[in-house]
Parts: sequence; structure tokens; C-alpha cells
Amino acid sequence: MRLLVAGAAGMLGLDVLRAGERAGHELVALARPELDITDGASVQEAFERVRPDAALNCAAWTDVDGAETHSEQAHAVNADGAGNLARAAAAVGVQLVHVSSDYVFDGEAPRDPTGAPRAYLESDPTGPRSVYGESKLAGERQVLAASQRHTVVRSSWLFGIGGRNFADTMLELGAVRDTVQVVTDQVGCPTWTGHLAPALLGLIERGVAGLVHLAGAGHVSWNGFAGEIFRQAELDCRVEEATTAQMARPAPRPAWSALESEREDVLPLPPWQDGLAGYLAARAGMMRV
Ligand SMILES: NC(=O)c1ccc[n+]([C@@H]2O[C@H](COP(=O)([O-])OP(=O)(O)OC[C@H]3O[C@@H](n4cnc5c(N)ncnc54)[C@H](OP(=O)(O)O)[C@@H]3O)[C@@H](O)[C@H]2O)c1
Repeated sequence: MRLLVAGAAGMLGLDVLRAGERAGHELVALARPELDITDGASVQEAFERVRPDAALNCAAWTDVDGAETHSEQAHAVNADGAGNLARAAAAVGVQLVHVSSDYVFDGEAPRDPTGAPRAYLESDPTGPRSVYGESKLAGERQVLAASQRHTVVRSSWLFGIGGRNFADTMLELGAVRDTVQVVTDQVGCPTWTGHLAPALLGLIERGVAGLVHLAGAGHVSWNGFAGEIFRQAELDCRVEEATTAQMARPAPRPAWSALESEREDVLPLPPWQDGLAGYLAARAGMMRV
């Protein structure tokens, strides 16, 4: 298939290109200099020129704290930019797979019948608490309104070799420090872009449309994630407990971010620990080159 990829130079975009090439697709990789998704006319022209069989949107305003003070720019990319791609794809009759975020939820864990916290499902009500989350939710709505063929994939806590991420930061700190302090009161699903990218292609190959949750299976706090990073990387660094209140940030972070799919046509991703192992192997390979 001929696939148009917007935001192709981002962390997820780079793994989508790798996964697409491996699967034998023809990739038309458009990074921001080639396609600014906030420019509706350029987006339309790109779809008419490329004539893809489907498209993926990996472009986004991902500076969560910066969005609080640059709300217009965040909305221009995450809401209207996503909408531009969705309308242009619909105009040439092709599916768009658009990536969204756990930040569309309020971060208060839903409960199962026994009262235990459970992962957010696609049917759970949204309630973003940050400008970034609001802009991502507005983007979801524009994409789903443009065509019934389009797909919105919510994921969370991404890490991959194509960009700066939490695992990367911990590996750097763990190499030079004896201890790090990491919050225990934010829980989510770490997701390796090396797992997410082929799964996004799978949704296109199988024609899965609508709203989908796709994140590393299981859930953990940032503190627990850091501990597993040091364990797998064999770094002797102790992870001390911290709270969100101690680490004041401009944008509120959801306390609970776990995502699962309730859809039978969605294949779950492997456990987040396997994603971490894959990431460490890919990172080691990259550093040897
Ligand atoms: N990272 C996470 O933890 C996380 C969690 C859940 C969901 N997501 C979602 O996953 C997707 C991929 O995220 P990521 O982590 O790969 O982000 P990323 O590494 O920041 O990549 C985003 C890309 O979008 C590009 N971009 C920004 N504005 C653009 C515009 N107007 N036109 C075209 N391209 C533009 C950026 O280019 P420049 O670098 O030139 O600005 C960058 O290459 C996003 O939709 C994000 O919201 C991410």
C-alpha cells in the first residue's frame, strides 16, 4: 500500500516508517518542512499529489507544559491540523489513522464492580484537565466527524529510539547517579513505539475504524517504570519515592492513565516490560552503529 505519513520525523513517525518498510508498504514520509498540517490548502494538495491508499498522522504539538501558555498553537496543530488531514483524506476516499492520548481523560481511575481501579476503555467519558488534553480531544472529534473510515488511536507514555523520552532520561541519570526521585502517584501504560507502529499499520491492513485504545499491556507508576529500566539495563541506581505535588509542573498530569481496549477487532500490544526490552535492544544496536 502507498501510505502518506505526516509528522514523519517525530519519535513515533520514525518507527512507523521503519515498520512500514518492513511490511513492504510504499511510504511517503512528510516531516514538518514538507507538510505543515496547520496549512489546510497544502494538506489537500499533498493528498491530491500523493494519492495514498491510506494515511497516518504522527504530527502533533507534544509540549504538554508549553501548551498551557500556547493554547492557540496547540489547538492549531492537534485539533485543526488533525482535522485538515482527516477532511483531505476523506475527500480522496482514504482512511486516516490519527494518534491521540491518555490526556483526554481526567485521570481519576474508573472502578470495576469490586471497587478496584480499572483501565480506561473506549466507551469511558473523557474530561481533559490540560490544554494539551483539550486540544487532543478536539482533534479526535474533528477526525471522527470527517469520515466513518477514519481511526483515532489513543496511546500513552510513548518511548522509542526516534526521540527524547522518559526511558532515555532515566538511562542517562542512572549512569551518573546513585539515586533518582520519581513519582509513585501517576500510573499508566508505557508503550514502545516499536510495538505501536506496526499495530497502527495493522489497523489499516485490517480496515479497523473508529476509536481504539492501544498501549503497552499492564500498568505501572513512573517510579516502578524507572525501577524496571534500571533492572533491565543492569544499572545500580536506587529509585526513591516522590509525589506529583513535589514536582510542580505547569500542566496537570493525569494520576491514572491506564488504557485498554474493549473492542474484539483490536489486538492488544505486548506487555510494557517487553516493549522496554525491545527498546533497550534497539537503542544498544543504534549506539553500536
Ligand atoms: N510522547 C508521548 O508520551 C505520547 C503519549 C500519548 C500520545 N502521544 C501522541 O503520539 C503522537 C506522536 O508523538 P511523538 O511522541 O512521536 O511526538 P514527537 O516526537 O514530538 O513528534 C511530533 C512531530 O510532529 C511534528 N509537528 C509539530 N507541528 C507540526 C505541524 N504543524 N505540521 C507537521 N508536523 C508537525 C514535529 O515536528 P517538529 O519537531 O519540527 O516540531 C514532530 O516531528 C502524537 O499525536 C502525540 O500526541 C504521545
